[in-house]
Amino acid sequence: MSIWHGLINSAYRRWLPVTDSTPVVSLHEGNTPLLRSDHLSSLTDCEIWLKVEGANPTGSFKDRGMTVAVSHAAGRGAEAIVCASTGNTSASAAAYAARAGITAAVLVPKGAVALGKLAQVVRYGAEIIEIAGTFDDCLRIARDLAAHHPVALVNSVNNELRLAGQRTVAYEVVDALGDAPDIHCLPVGNGGNITATWSGYQAYAAAGLATRLPRIWGFQAAGAAPLVHGTPVAAPETAASAIRVGNPATWNGAIAARDDSQGLISAVTDDQIFDAYRMVARHDGIFAEPASAAGIAGILDQRRRGHLAPGQTIVITLSGNGLKDLDASLRDGYTSTPTSADTTDVARALHLTT
Ligand code: F0G
Repeated sequence: MSIWHGLINSAYRRWLPVTDSTPVVSLHEGNTPLLRSDHLSSLTDCEIWLKVEGANPTGSFKDRGMTVAVSHAAGRGAEAIVCASTGNTSASAAAYAARAGITAAVLVPKGAVALGKLAQVVRYGAEIIEIAGTFDDCLRIARDLAAHHPVALVNSVNNELRLAGQRTVAYEVVDALGDAPDIHCLPVGNGGNITATWSGYQAYAAAGLATRLPRIWGFQAAGAAPLVHGTPVAAPETAASAIRVGNPATWNGAIAARDDSQGLISAVTDDQIFDAYRMVARHDGIFAEPASAAGIAGILDQRRRGHLAPGQTIVITLSGNGLKDLDASLRDGYTSTPTSADTTDVARALHLTT
Protein backbone atom coordinates (compact mmCIF):
# COMPACT_ATOMS: atom_id res chain seq x y z
CA MET A 1 0.00 0.00 0.00
CA SER A 2 1.41 3.39 -0.90
CA ILE A 3 0.83 6.20 1.55
CA TRP A 4 -0.03 9.71 0.38
CA HIS A 5 2.45 12.43 1.36
CA GLY A 6 1.06 15.40 -0.57
CA LEU A 7 1.45 16.63 -4.15
CA ILE A 8 5.15 17.50 -4.19
CA ASN A 9 6.05 14.09 -2.73
CA SER A 10 3.77 12.20 -5.13
CA ALA A 11 4.12 10.91 -8.69
CA TYR A 12 2.82 14.34 -9.78
CA ARG A 13 6.09 15.92 -8.63
CA ARG A 14 7.50 15.82 -12.16
CA TRP A 15 4.67 18.13 -13.27
CA LEU A 16 5.50 20.71 -10.61
CA PRO A 17 8.10 23.50 -10.79
CA VAL A 18 10.25 22.19 -7.92
CA THR A 19 13.87 21.07 -7.74
CA ASP A 20 15.85 19.02 -5.24
CA SER A 21 16.74 22.22 -3.42
CA THR A 22 13.12 23.35 -3.00
CA PRO A 23 11.99 22.71 0.58
CA VAL A 24 8.67 20.87 0.77
CA VAL A 25 5.96 22.70 2.69
CA SER A 26 3.00 20.34 2.66
CA LEU A 27 -0.11 19.42 4.62
CA HIS A 28 -0.60 16.36 2.39
CA GLU A 29 -3.00 18.13 0.07
CA GLY A 30 -4.46 16.57 -3.08
CA ASN A 31 -5.60 12.99 -3.78
CA THR A 32 -9.18 14.08 -3.08
CA PRO A 33 -12.22 11.79 -3.58
CA LEU A 34 -13.85 11.52 -7.00
CA LEU A 35 -17.35 10.26 -6.22
CA ARG A 36 -20.05 9.19 -8.64
CA SER A 37 -23.34 11.00 -8.04
CA ASP A 38 -26.17 8.57 -8.64
CA HIS A 39 -28.71 11.33 -8.08
CA LEU A 40 -27.23 13.85 -10.55
CA SER A 41 -26.49 11.08 -13.05
CA SER A 42 -30.14 10.05 -13.12
CA LEU A 43 -31.35 13.68 -13.27
CA THR A 44 -29.19 14.41 -16.31
CA ASP A 45 -28.92 11.04 -18.10
CA CYS A 46 -25.18 11.53 -17.90
CA GLU A 47 -22.38 9.96 -15.85
CA ILE A 48 -21.64 12.56 -13.18
CA TRP A 49 -18.56 12.54 -10.95
CA LEU A 50 -17.91 14.95 -8.09
CA LYS A 51 -14.34 16.02 -7.28
CA VAL A 52 -14.52 16.77 -3.58
CA GLU A 53 -11.93 19.51 -3.11
CA GLY A 54 -13.30 20.38 0.32
CA ALA A 55 -11.41 17.27 1.50
CA ASN A 56 -8.12 19.16 1.18
CA PRO A 57 -6.33 20.03 4.47
CA THR A 58 -7.71 23.57 4.82
CA GLY A 59 -10.98 22.64 3.13
CA SER A 60 -10.55 23.97 -0.39
CA PHE A 61 -8.69 23.43 -3.68
CA LYS A 62 -6.42 26.36 -2.83
CA ASP A 63 -4.06 24.00 -0.98
CA ARG A 64 -2.95 22.45 -4.31
CA GLY A 65 -1.34 25.70 -5.41
CA MET A 66 -0.35 26.92 -1.97
CA THR A 67 1.98 23.98 -1.28
CA VAL A 68 4.00 24.97 -4.36
CA ALA A 69 3.86 28.75 -3.77
CA VAL A 70 4.84 28.58 -0.09
CA SER A 71 7.54 25.96 -0.70
CA HIS A 72 9.13 28.40 -3.14
CA ALA A 73 8.70 31.33 -0.76
CA ALA A 74 10.42 29.29 1.96
CA GLY A 75 13.18 28.27 -0.47
CA ARG A 76 13.84 31.92 -1.34
CA GLY A 77 14.05 32.75 2.34
CA ALA A 78 10.93 34.95 2.24
CA GLU A 79 9.91 36.20 5.64
CA ALA A 80 6.41 37.23 4.70
CA ILE A 81 3.73 36.33 2.18
CA VAL A 82 0.69 38.38 1.34
CA CYS A 83 -2.58 37.61 -0.41
CA ALA A 84 -6.00 39.07 -1.11
CA SER A 85 -8.90 36.73 -0.61
CA THR A 86 -12.62 36.11 -0.38
CA GLY A 87 -11.62 33.65 2.37
CA ASN A 88 -10.26 30.36 1.11
CA THR A 89 -6.96 31.61 -0.29
CA SER A 90 -6.31 33.38 3.00
CA ALA A 91 -7.04 30.24 5.05
CA SER A 92 -4.72 28.21 2.86
CA ALA A 93 -1.93 30.82 2.79
CA ALA A 94 -2.12 31.21 6.56
CA ALA A 95 -1.89 27.45 7.17
CA TYR A 96 1.06 26.84 4.83
CA ALA A 97 2.84 29.94 6.18
CA ALA A 98 2.38 28.63 9.73
CA ARG A 99 3.87 25.32 8.69
CA ALA A 100 6.84 27.05 7.05
CA GLY A 101 7.42 29.47 9.91
CA ILE A 102 6.70 32.45 7.65
CA THR A 103 4.48 35.43 8.48
CA ALA A 104 1.30 35.69 6.40
CA ALA A 105 -0.69 38.87 5.88
CA VAL A 106 -4.16 38.44 4.43
CA LEU A 107 -6.24 41.22 2.91
CA VAL A 108 -9.96 40.50 3.01
CA PRO A 109 -13.08 42.55 2.27
CA LYS A 110 -14.52 43.61 5.64
CA GLY A 111 -17.69 41.78 6.62
CA ALA A 112 -17.71 39.70 3.43
CA VAL A 113 -15.83 36.54 4.43
CA ALA A 114 -17.58 33.41 5.73
CA LEU A 115 -16.95 33.02 9.45
CA GLY A 116 -15.31 29.58 9.24
CA LYS A 117 -12.62 30.95 6.93
CA LEU A 118 -11.95 33.88 9.24
CA ALA A 119 -11.79 31.46 12.18
CA GLN A 120 -9.17 29.42 10.33
CA VAL A 121 -7.01 32.47 9.62
CA VAL A 122 -7.28 33.59 13.25
CA ARG A 123 -6.08 30.20 14.53
CA TYR A 124 -3.25 29.86 12.00
CA GLY A 125 -2.04 33.22 13.31
CA ALA A 126 -1.95 35.35 10.17
CA GLU A 127 -2.03 39.12 10.20
CA ILE A 128 -5.58 40.04 9.17
CA ILE A 129 -6.25 43.29 7.33
CA GLU A 130 -9.96 43.92 6.81
CA ILE A 131 -10.40 46.40 4.01
CA ALA A 132 -13.40 48.65 3.53
CA GLY A 133 -13.85 47.58 -0.08
CA THR A 134 -14.35 44.61 -2.38
CA PHE A 135 -12.11 41.61 -3.05
CA ASP A 136 -10.95 43.46 -6.17
CA ASP A 137 -9.74 46.36 -4.00
CA CYS A 138 -7.89 43.87 -1.77
CA LEU A 139 -6.15 42.34 -4.77
CA ARG A 140 -5.11 45.72 -6.16
CA ILE A 141 -3.55 46.65 -2.82
CA ALA A 142 -1.87 43.22 -2.37
CA ARG A 143 -0.24 43.61 -5.79
CA ASP A 144 0.91 47.14 -4.91
CA LEU A 145 2.39 45.92 -1.63
CA ALA A 146 4.30 43.11 -3.31
CA ALA A 147 5.62 45.50 -5.97
CA HIS A 148 7.02 47.97 -3.43
CA HIS A 149 7.84 45.94 -0.32
CA PRO A 150 9.74 42.70 0.48
CA VAL A 151 6.66 40.45 0.63
CA ALA A 152 5.83 37.56 -1.72
CA LEU A 153 2.39 37.67 -3.35
CA VAL A 154 0.74 34.22 -3.27
CA ASN A 155 -2.39 35.03 -5.24
CA SER A 156 -2.69 33.15 -8.50
CA VAL A 157 -2.17 36.34 -10.57
CA ASN A 158 0.77 35.75 -12.87
CA ASN A 159 1.69 33.07 -10.39
CA GLU A 160 2.78 30.01 -12.32
CA LEU A 161 3.50 28.26 -9.02
CA ARG A 162 -0.09 28.41 -7.82
CA LEU A 163 -1.48 27.46 -11.22
CA ALA A 164 0.96 24.54 -11.60
CA GLY A 165 -0.25 23.13 -8.30
CA GLN A 166 -3.89 23.61 -9.20
CA ARG A 167 -3.38 21.77 -12.51
CA THR A 168 -2.97 18.54 -10.55
CA VAL A 169 -6.73 18.24 -10.19
CA ALA A 170 -6.94 17.39 -13.89
CA TYR A 171 -4.19 14.76 -13.56
CA GLU A 172 -6.05 13.09 -10.70
CA VAL A 173 -9.30 13.04 -12.67
CA VAL A 174 -7.70 11.48 -15.75
CA ASP A 175 -5.86 8.91 -13.65
CA ALA A 176 -9.09 7.98 -11.84
CA LEU A 177 -11.34 7.79 -14.92
CA GLY A 178 -8.73 6.45 -17.35
CA ASP A 179 -9.19 9.43 -19.68
CA ALA A 180 -10.48 13.00 -19.70
CA PRO A 181 -14.24 13.45 -19.21
CA ASP A 182 -16.45 15.00 -21.92
CA ILE A 183 -17.11 18.06 -19.76
CA HIS A 184 -15.49 19.51 -16.63
CA CYS A 185 -17.71 21.98 -14.70
CA LEU A 186 -16.51 24.37 -12.05
CA PRO A 187 -17.32 27.63 -10.26
CA VAL A 188 -15.44 30.72 -11.47
CA GLY A 189 -14.41 33.73 -9.39
CA ASN A 190 -10.98 35.21 -10.00
CA GLY A 191 -10.41 32.90 -12.98
CA GLY A 192 -7.35 31.00 -11.74
CA ASN A 193 -8.88 27.60 -11.26
CA ILE A 194 -10.61 27.35 -14.64
CA THR A 195 -7.32 28.35 -16.27
CA ALA A 196 -5.31 25.79 -14.28
CA THR A 197 -7.83 22.98 -14.75
CA TRP A 198 -7.86 23.44 -18.52
CA SER A 199 -4.09 23.65 -18.82
CA GLY A 200 -3.76 20.53 -16.67
CA TYR A 201 -5.84 18.57 -19.16
CA GLN A 202 -3.83 20.04 -22.02
CA ALA A 203 -0.52 19.05 -20.41
CA TYR A 204 -1.67 15.48 -19.79
CA ALA A 205 -3.00 15.08 -23.33
CA ALA A 206 0.19 16.55 -24.82
CA ALA A 207 2.17 13.92 -22.88
CA GLY A 208 -0.08 11.16 -24.25
CA LEU A 209 -1.63 10.43 -20.86
CA ALA A 210 -5.13 11.37 -22.03
CA THR A 211 -6.51 10.69 -25.50
CA ARG A 212 -8.83 13.69 -25.55
CA LEU A 213 -9.66 17.04 -23.97
CA PRO A 214 -12.83 17.99 -22.09
CA ARG A 215 -14.99 20.99 -22.74
CA ILE A 216 -14.68 23.37 -19.78
CA TRP A 217 -17.95 24.76 -18.44
CA GLY A 218 -17.45 27.56 -15.93
CA PHE A 219 -20.21 29.14 -13.86
CA GLN A 220 -20.34 32.53 -12.17
CA ALA A 221 -22.99 33.88 -9.81
CA ALA A 222 -25.47 36.07 -11.68
CA GLY A 223 -24.64 39.14 -9.53
CA ALA A 224 -20.90 38.64 -10.04
CA ALA A 225 -20.59 37.52 -13.65
CA PRO A 226 -18.07 39.82 -15.37
CA LEU A 227 -16.79 37.06 -17.68
CA VAL A 228 -20.33 36.34 -18.86
CA HIS A 229 -21.07 40.03 -19.54
CA GLY A 230 -17.61 40.74 -20.94
CA THR A 231 -17.07 43.70 -18.63
CA PRO A 232 -16.02 44.15 -14.96
CA VAL A 233 -18.73 44.46 -12.31
CA ALA A 234 -18.05 47.35 -9.89
CA ALA A 235 -20.23 46.08 -7.03
CA PRO A 236 -20.44 42.28 -7.33
CA GLU A 237 -23.20 40.69 -5.25
CA THR A 238 -23.95 37.08 -4.40
CA ALA A 239 -24.52 35.10 -1.21
CA ALA A 240 -21.86 32.69 -2.54
CA SER A 241 -19.16 34.93 -1.05
CA ALA A 242 -16.20 32.86 -2.29
CA ILE A 243 -16.91 33.86 -5.89
CA ARG A 244 -17.92 37.48 -5.24
CA VAL A 245 -15.35 38.85 -7.68
CA GLY A 246 -16.01 41.76 -10.05
CA ASN A 247 -12.81 41.92 -12.07
CA PRO A 248 -11.09 38.52 -12.35
CA ALA A 249 -7.29 38.75 -12.38
CA THR A 250 -6.95 35.76 -14.71
CA TRP A 251 -9.53 37.09 -17.14
CA ASN A 252 -7.70 36.10 -20.34
CA GLY A 253 -6.88 32.62 -19.04
CA ALA A 254 -10.54 32.00 -18.21
CA ILE A 255 -11.73 33.15 -21.62
CA ALA A 256 -9.04 31.05 -23.34
CA ALA A 257 -10.09 27.98 -21.34
CA ARG A 258 -13.67 28.54 -22.47
CA ASP A 259 -12.87 29.17 -26.12
CA ASP A 260 -10.02 26.71 -26.66
CA SER A 261 -12.05 23.90 -25.09
CA GLN A 262 -15.20 24.87 -27.01
CA GLY A 263 -16.81 25.29 -23.63
CA LEU A 264 -18.85 28.02 -21.99
CA ILE A 265 -18.94 30.42 -19.06
CA SER A 266 -22.49 31.07 -17.94
CA ALA A 267 -24.31 32.61 -14.97
CA VAL A 268 -26.47 30.90 -12.35
CA THR A 269 -28.69 32.69 -9.84
CA ASP A 270 -28.19 32.49 -6.09
CA ASP A 271 -31.42 30.49 -5.85
CA GLN A 272 -30.00 27.92 -8.28
CA ILE A 273 -26.71 27.82 -6.37
CA PHE A 274 -28.43 27.29 -3.02
CA ASP A 275 -30.77 24.64 -4.43
CA ALA A 276 -27.71 22.75 -5.70
CA TYR A 277 -25.95 23.26 -2.34
CA ARG A 278 -28.88 21.63 -0.52
CA MET A 279 -29.24 18.89 -3.13
CA VAL A 280 -25.64 17.63 -3.05
CA ALA A 281 -25.70 17.41 0.74
CA ARG A 282 -29.10 15.73 0.88
CA HIS A 283 -28.56 13.22 -1.94
CA ASP A 284 -24.80 12.66 -2.13
CA GLY A 285 -23.75 13.21 1.47
CA ILE A 286 -21.34 16.00 0.53
CA PHE A 287 -21.40 19.23 2.52
CA ALA A 288 -19.87 21.74 0.13
CA GLU A 289 -19.85 25.51 0.60
CA PRO A 290 -22.39 27.47 -1.48
CA ALA A 291 -19.98 28.75 -4.17
CA SER A 292 -18.81 25.17 -4.66
CA ALA A 293 -22.25 24.18 -5.83
CA ALA A 294 -22.22 26.59 -8.80
CA GLY A 295 -20.98 23.79 -11.07
CA ILE A 296 -23.95 21.61 -10.15
CA ALA A 297 -26.36 24.53 -10.52
CA GLY A 298 -24.82 25.13 -13.92
CA ILE A 299 -25.12 21.61 -15.26
CA LEU A 300 -28.76 21.45 -14.18
CA ASP A 301 -29.38 24.83 -15.83
CA GLN A 302 -27.81 23.69 -19.10
CA ARG A 303 -29.87 20.51 -18.97
CA ARG A 304 -33.07 22.52 -18.39
CA ARG A 305 -32.24 24.70 -21.39
CA GLY A 306 -31.77 21.60 -23.56
CA HIS A 307 -28.02 22.19 -23.98
CA LEU A 308 -26.83 18.97 -22.39
CA ALA A 309 -26.74 15.86 -24.57
CA PRO A 310 -27.28 12.60 -22.65
CA GLY A 311 -24.63 9.92 -22.18
CA GLN A 312 -21.70 12.18 -21.43
CA THR A 313 -19.11 11.76 -18.68
CA ILE A 314 -18.99 14.90 -16.58
CA VAL A 315 -16.74 15.91 -13.69
CA ILE A 316 -17.88 18.71 -11.39
CA THR A 317 -15.43 20.42 -9.04
CA LEU A 318 -16.86 20.97 -5.56
CA SER A 319 -14.31 23.57 -4.59
CA GLY A 320 -14.73 24.07 -0.83
CA ASN A 321 -16.04 22.53 2.39
CA GLY A 322 -19.49 23.39 3.75
CA LEU A 323 -18.18 23.76 7.29
CA LYS A 324 -16.55 27.01 6.26
CA ASP A 325 -19.89 28.78 6.01
CA LEU A 326 -22.20 27.68 8.80
CA ASP A 327 -24.45 30.74 8.44
CA ALA A 328 -25.33 29.57 4.93
CA SER A 329 -26.52 26.23 6.27
CA LEU A 330 -28.46 27.52 9.24
CA ARG A 331 -29.99 30.66 7.75
CA ASP A 332 -33.04 28.69 6.60
CA GLY A 333 -33.53 27.59 10.22
CA TYR A 334 -34.00 23.92 11.09
CA THR A 335 -36.44 21.80 13.05
CA SER A 336 -35.57 19.64 16.01
CA THR A 337 -37.56 17.95 18.74
CA PRO A 338 -36.66 18.79 22.34
CA THR A 339 -37.03 15.82 24.73
CA SER A 340 -36.06 14.90 28.26
CA ALA A 341 -33.01 12.67 28.79
CA ASP A 342 -35.20 9.58 28.75
CA THR A 343 -35.22 6.74 26.20
CA THR A 344 -39.02 6.40 26.19
CA ASP A 345 -39.38 10.11 25.46
CA VAL A 346 -36.85 9.94 22.64
CA ALA A 347 -38.54 6.84 21.18
CA ARG A 348 -41.87 8.68 21.22
CA ALA A 349 -40.29 11.71 19.54
CA LEU A 350 -39.03 9.37 16.81
CA HIS A 351 -42.47 7.73 16.48
CA LEU A 352 -40.96 4.35 17.45
CA THR A 353 -44.08 2.73 18.80
CA THR A 354 -42.91 -0.89 18.85
N1 F0G B 1 -14.79 28.06 -5.22
C1 F0G B 1 -14.32 28.48 -4.04
C2 F0G B 1 -14.78 27.77 -2.82
C3 F0G B 1 -13.41 29.55 -3.98
O1 F0G B 1 -12.96 29.95 -2.79
C4 F0G B 1 -13.03 30.20 -5.18
C5 F0G B 1 -12.11 31.33 -5.16
C6 F0G B 1 -13.55 29.71 -6.39
C7 F0G B 1 -14.42 28.64 -6.37
C8 F0G B 1 -13.21 30.31 -7.70
O2 F0G B 1 -11.90 30.03 -8.08
O3 F0G B 1 -11.00 32.35 -8.13
O4 F0G B 1 -9.78 30.46 -9.20
O5 F0G B 1 -11.89 31.34 -10.19
N2 F0G B 1 -11.73 31.92 -4.11
C9 F0G B 1 -10.73 33.00 -4.08
C10 F0G B 1 -10.27 33.24 -2.65
C11 F0G B 1 -11.16 34.22 -4.82
O6 F0G B 1 -9.81 34.34 -2.34
O7 F0G B 1 -10.34 32.32 -1.83
P1 F0G B 1 -11.09 31.10 -8.96
